Amino acid sequence: MESCSDKKIIIAIDGFSSGGKSTFAREIASRLGYIFIDTGAMYRAVTLYALENGAIRGGILDEDKLVGMLDDIEIVFRFNPSRGASDIYVNGQYAEGKIRTIEVSNLVSAVSSVPEVRAKLVALQQQMGRGRGIVMDGRDIGTVVFPDAELKIFLTADPAVRARRRYEELTAKGMEVSLEEIERNIRERDEADQSREVSPLRKADDAIVLDNSRMTLAEQMDWVMEILKKGIN
Ligand code: DC
Repeated sequence: MESCSDKKIIIAIDGFSSGGKSTFAREIASRLGYIFIDTGAMYRAVTLYALENGAIRGGILDEDKLVGMLDDIEIVFRFNPSRGASDIYVNGQYAEGKIRTIEVSNLVSAVSSVPEVRAKLVALQQQMGRGRGIVMDGRDIGTVVFPDAELKIFLTADPAVRARRRYEELTAKGMEVSLEEIERNIRERDEADQSREVSPLRKADDAIVLDNSRMTLAEQMDWVMEILKKGIN
């Protein structure tokens, strides 16, 4: 057994939409001085690019057109000291706000089920984690991107709890959304994430399940710090 402070490790956090993965992952990264990568933001960034460049029209994705554009899409994270987190840039353009709209949320499942999109983003994610010392959240981090991650967490929470949290997050940003619309979107994405052919969402055999429906962030942090203190095999 080694303690995590001796050696930089990879922490993989997977789970359903709006389960608080990014908040949890960002907090762990900040405590450990690790890099945090939100891979959902990367799939959202590709969706935004597809929308802005004509690969999605009238809500319909033209897969061939998107695949033909993939080499032109450059995704970069830049640390923003005022937020204490990284912002995503698509071809040099700041995209944080634009990737979180309900329009992108409704289309991202279709984009993330294209095998070529996944191949490109998985390769990029693996490159980002080469030096270890990273906390990455997504759907396939413990199963596909880093099957050798030292700590894998599978986060779950009731869909109604997740919808309420996302609703509060978006309305706090001034977006006009209804709770019903968000809950429908979450349930649809749960279904799409679990049933897609390439890299469906599933718990890695060696992942630890955490149901945070009734837990505060502080309680989740106590839970994970305890695991890290005990040491990772
Ligand atoms: O975490 P999020 O809700 O921002 O993710 C947006 C979408 O991207 C989600 O519907 C599924 C997809 N996704 C994925 O397929 N694989 C990942 N590693 C991360 C996200």
